[in-house]
Amino acid sequence: MSDSHDHHAPSAPDPTSGHYGILVEYALPDDSWIDRWDRIVVPDALKRRMVNFGAFALTQRSDRSQVALPVHGLMLMQGPPGTGKTTLARGLADQIARIVRDRDGRETIFAEVDAHSIGSGVLGESQRQVDRVFQRSIRLLARQGRPVIVLIDEVENLAVARDRASLQANPTDVHRSTNAVLTGLDSIWNQFTNVLFVATSNFPDSIDAAFLSRVDLIVDVPVPPRELARRILVDTMREVAGDAIADAEAADESVALEAVLDATEGIDARRLRKVILAAIVERRETAIDPSQLRWQDVRAALVATGRAG
Ligand SMILES: Nc1ncnc2c1ncn2[C@@H]1O[C@H](COP(=O)(O)OP(=O)(O)O)[C@@H](O)[C@H]1O
Ligand SMILES: [Mg+2]
Repeated sequence: MSDSHDHHAPSAPDPTSGHYGILVEYALPDDSWIDRWDRIVVPDALKRRMVNFGAFALTQRSDRSQVALPVHGLMLMQGPPGTGKTTLARGLADQIARIVRDRDGRETIFAEVDAHSIGSGVLGESQRQVDRVFQRSIRLLARQGRPVIVLIDEVENLAVARDRASLQANPTDVHRSTNAVLTGLDSIWNQFTNVLFVATSNFPDSIDAAFLSRVDLIVDVPVPPRELARRILVDTMREVAGDAIADAEAADESVALEAVLDATEGIDARRLRKVILAAIVERRETAIDPSQLRWQDVRAALVATGRAG
């Protein structure tokens, strides 16, 4: 499955209103978003740092000198595809919104920049589009005075490294749109302290250096190491077959779970969850009643597809 299939938030509540180049816009917190935080498994320290940074950036910046402590309010989550960045960015926004609400009762506005609607087209067009997103849409949101969290998903599409732009069909246009992103960020920072930008990237090497130098916090989201992979597989199994099965209480089940972990070493979290799906569809019985699934079925499905012995 290609990455873009997950781009649109599933089962999200209705957007509050629409602005140019903004894909979705929600008022947070929203209880239906909690899974996007709780069920994305990354090292605890990463989550702690991200939430704390967001809380600091949205509640403390207005009282401090930008010269003494320059905080732009820009965070970057980078890592391989399928490690949870997009989902976690949305969950993070919800978590930060909870902190803000507990502190002063205000709602937070969450908006996602629609990078796919920008770029391409005639020369100079993408620059104008980026300008409109920052100078108009984000500015309008920020002016309302509430905290605003802006997700720039797959930012490498927008802030393309200019020293690599010769590879592109239209290098001049790439230069201009990257410049427009930087100008847009700078102008928001000069005027507002209530906007937090969260960017994600699958290909951080192709992000422009001037953009990277503005980032306050970089978070490396890893392919899950074994202990985290175990938590992800168990969480998926729990959804399907319940706690007792997921925890592999029977001895032969526990052996099967370890074999599944051996066979799936190094794969990303999204594919890990799909290993359970692959096992469900291997037999008619589990396809029509997934609660029948056992770890031994998951191992057998991996053997059947040549990934485990
Ligand atoms: N770290 C993770 N822990 C648990 N599930 C994950 C994780 N990463 C990805 N997934 C699963 O894969 C789906 C897609 O992940 P996504 O956020 O699109 O990853 P990315 O943006 O890094 O490509 C998630 O909704 C979740 O089901
Ligand atoms: Mg993504």
